[in-house]
Amino acid sequence: MKRNVLIMVIVLLIVSLGLAFFFFRNSDKTEVSINDKLKEIGYSDKDVSLILDKVSSDGVDEILNIGYDESLIDILSSSNYDENKFSDYIEYYMKNKGANIKDIIDIVNSGFDLFNYPASSLLASLVKEKYYINDNVARYLDYGNNHDMNPKEIVGFVNSKADLGFYSESYDSNLDDGNLVLVNKFYHLKEDYTPSDLISLGGQYNKGANNKMRKEAAEALMKMIDAARLDNIILYNMSAFRSYDYQVNLYNRYIKRDGKEAADKYSARPGYSEHQSGLCSDLNEVSDAFEGTDEAIWLKDNAYKYGFILRFPKGKENITGYKYEPWHYRYVGIEAAKVIYEDDITLEEYYAYYIEKNSD
Ligand code: DAL
Ligand code: ZN
Repeated sequence: MKRNVLIMVIVLLIVSLGLAFFFFRNSDKTEVSINDKLKEIGYSDKDVSLILDKVSSDGVDEILNIGYDESLIDILSSSNYDENKFSDYIEYYMKNKGANIKDIIDIVNSGFDLFNYPASSLLASLVKEKYYINDNVARYLDYGNNHDMNPKEIVGFVNSKADLGFYSESYDSNLDDGNLVLVNKFYHLKEDYTPSDLISLGGQYNKGANNKMRKEAAEALMKMIDAARLDNIILYNMSAFRSYDYQVNLYNRYIKRDGKEAADKYSARPGYSEHQSGLCSDLNEVSDAFEGTDEAIWLKDNAYKYGFILRFPKGKENITGYKYEPWHYRYVGIEAAKVIYEDDITLEEYYAYYIEKNSD
């Protein structure tokens, strides 16, 4: 009996060893044949080890189907190569033979659906922009290919709709956006809109006739004015809330004085002025002479800490549609103001990316 058990154990051992040997030899064989096949179609030993190192077996089949292509080795050698995206690289590369491999890698790595857009260095740099919005890519490319603008500027410009032409489209401002409501050359407030929570700025906080502001904005403004005073900077409101009718008179007066084209560069049309939102204030001196004063510099450097932004900055005229207004500050709340200040963007750019993009 004992002997029979021993024989069975020995037989089992021999069978398992045999099986193990068989499988080992076989797997070695497939390894050898993939090697050979890759070499057969033209890849060097070095290429083959790179392929086996960086590509899954399904990917190797894709390579074998394609045949020898030096660019595939360039793709695998790229420092930004991501093994999980191999099939996407191949698909995009096959549609864009001759394009720069680095651009192809960057475009695929962005994760945006861009297979139907030709690879280009412009597209590769656009997708790396923080405020890139995939829905706008056709307009970015269209504008960028025809104008001398860097990718950051293209993204900001197009996100703001400025490429469509000011006042070319008109939407109702969304009052549900609260402190972030956008009022500009595309978004307007209704004729009868007056904020329900206006309060008056008085005393040292005001020297103007239009001294009303929405409560939260007014309180933030007073806080800012108090803080500036501690730095020996004296600030005061000159013009805050203005009604639709008030803006009608103002705008018409400017047209009479300077003509419509010129007036449009510094004055909003009725309904399109954010002064009607009760969320902004013209401070101290509504004049170009305010630029560079201690007060203007203090505001530029500190307003964001109180939730205010310089609404029409220098260098952003093509986005806001208005000339530089060093005196016009808009309340958006501290969180948004900090982003707008630190990323050097306008409310238009902020709104497109953080509010509008997520509202569909
Ligand atoms: N000056 C600004 C643009 C306004 O009229 O609202
Ligand atoms: Zn203003």
